[in-house]
Amino acid sequence: MKTEIIKVDREHFEEEELEFAAECLRNGKLVAFPTETVYGLGGNAFDSTAAARIYAAKGRPSDNPLIVHIARIKDLSELASEVPESAYRLAEAFWPGPLTMILKKSDRVPETTTGGLDTVAVRMPSDPIAAALIRRSGVFVAAPSANKSGRPSTTKAEHVIEDLDGRIDVIIDGGASAIGLESTIVDLTGDVPLILRPGYISAEQLADVLGEVRFDEAVLKRSPSEPVVARAPGMKYRHYAPKAPLFIVEGKPEEVVRYINSVAAKSAAEGKIIGILATEETKRYYTGGMVFSVGERKDAETIAAGLFDTLRGFDETGVSVIYSESFADNPLGTAIMNRLLKAAGYHILHPDKGEAEYI
Ligand code: TXA
Ligand code: MG
Repeated sequence: MKTEIIKVDREHFEEEELEFAAECLRNGKLVAFPTETVYGLGGNAFDSTAAARIYAAKGRPSDNPLIVHIARIKDLSELASEVPESAYRLAEAFWPGPLTMILKKSDRVPETTTGGLDTVAVRMPSDPIAAALIRRSGVFVAAPSANKSGRPSTTKAEHVIEDLDGRIDVIIDGGASAIGLESTIVDLTGDVPLILRPGYISAEQLADVLGEVRFDEAVLKRSPSEPVVARAPGMKYRHYAPKAPLFIVEGKPEEVVRYINSVAAKSAAEGKIIGILATEETKRYYTGGMVFSVGERKDAETIAAGLFDTLRGFDETGVSVIYSESFADNPLGTAIMNRLLKAAGYHILHPDKGEAEYI
């Protein structure tokens, strides 16, 4: 299949430029498009065949449900059989924006879209291209992140081309996604709202609107042996993974640098180059290895925005293994660490505690 690539300037564009892509969505075809979080791979949410094509293009297990994207808050009632008042309060506070709500699904949403579940995930994105495309298409747009299943999500059209060129109909190139991490997912179907995936909208922000909110146990997992089953089906898979194995190194900054430098030296002696995921503040302390800066520690938003691009960047270098610094447990840091832990298969090294080390 030939994939059409359409460049659109997020700041200045005419809706007309999106007509071809909108038409494709109406006809059951697949369109990758930028959102403020990551790029999405869109298809008509009410068309089972389009949903099936999304799973096939990504190589995604079909029990992993898709998020349905809308352009108007009032469309919530088309997708959900009951819309609790809390959903409207969240929509008022955070939509359009990086928040996904899980609600009881209406009969009109096919089970192919929801991976067989009786609930549906709904999001109203704020990126102007995404919003205009959904509105113009006139359909609800089912869209997972536009990456091959298991790979880091895509935050630039180049990433989408890498993973999906020749497998989908259209890629809209609208430049880099502003936030860089997928939306916060909150499940409103139980007694207490539950965060299934942390994101840019923090637990504190949700609690301000909802009163009480809790994290799904799986979100807080910190080790590969903890046997918790994620309530968001997609969160149970190894995910966001670069090609080389990834280890997170925790401890005092100087200990982390010392340890990674010692591994880099040993590896170099064996003719191997390791990858190092560092930051603007720390990169100059490394004396070997292939050092990539993900962003600035003093501005966590830059780290969120750079994370997937940096993980993908290592794939082009041929490094044998990647060591990453760890990030603070502030609200956005929770989302960053959640993705990094998954990419690392929850492998964390603590050199200053004298634990067994991977070399
Ligand atoms: O920011 C985002 O949310 C991006 C952009 C494109 O909107 N989309 C995205 O979709 O990250 P995806 O498919 O890569 O991740 C959706 C997650 C998966 O972990 C999936 O299992 C979960 O949401 N999910 C979807 N529907 C669900 C449901 N009904 N119940 C529980 N989890 C659900
Ligand atoms: Mg995804």
